Amino acid sequence: MIFKQVPVGTFQNFSYVIGDEKAKVAAVVDPAWEVEKLLKICEELDLKVIYVVNTHSHHDHVEGDNAIAKRTGAKVVMHEKSPLRKDIAVKDGDTINVGSVRFKVLHTPGHCPDHICLLVDGKVLTGDTLFVGECGRTDLAGGDSGDLYDSLTTKVLPLDDDIEVYPGHDYGNKPSSTIGHERNNNYTLKPRTKQEFIKFMAET
Ligand SMILES: [Fe+2]
Repeated sequence: MIFKQVPVGTFQNFSYVIGDEKAKVAAVVDPAWEVEKLLKICEELDLKVIYVVNTHSHHDHVEGDNAIAKRTGAKVVMHEKSPLRKDIAVKDGDTINVGSVRFKVLHTPGHCPDHICLLVDGKVLTGDTLFVGECGRTDLAGGDSGDLYDSLTTKVLPLDDDIEVYPGHDYGNKPSSTIGHERNNNYTLKPRTKQEFIKFMAET
């Protein structure tokens, strides 16, 4: 598997290029800000982009979608609740195959209703649900702290400790982490009841 974490833009976003080197196909996750940089990586690796996958519909994660789709013919994949144009609507538990590389979709609402995390070969792309040392904000349109609590406790934290965490922004003291490290060190993930978490999010 080819897995490239690519810093883009001025909001410390991460896009990802994930591909199968044998089948020479790739998905670009959350393309934004620096489409040429992302396409150049794919070109240099001789990968045809077949999917654009968005962790969620916020502008800073999708604004390169159309340019990449137009240039490569890639299909745009988002959660079925996303209000944006998409070619393929996915839901919790779905899989996306990129050659032999298999993405599993985890629906993780909370930051926004259409948020998904993507589990791929021992790694989880957490978008704006979980960052290194932080969690996503819930004070934007469609945000819901109770939903984020449920997503973190029932979808993200049950993953094995050694699963690597690749977030949608470079907000931590390192660009990636592991579930075990975040479970033990991320102050937003300290054991709390749902009510305590909702209060915590309202106060921070
Ligand atoms: Fe976001």
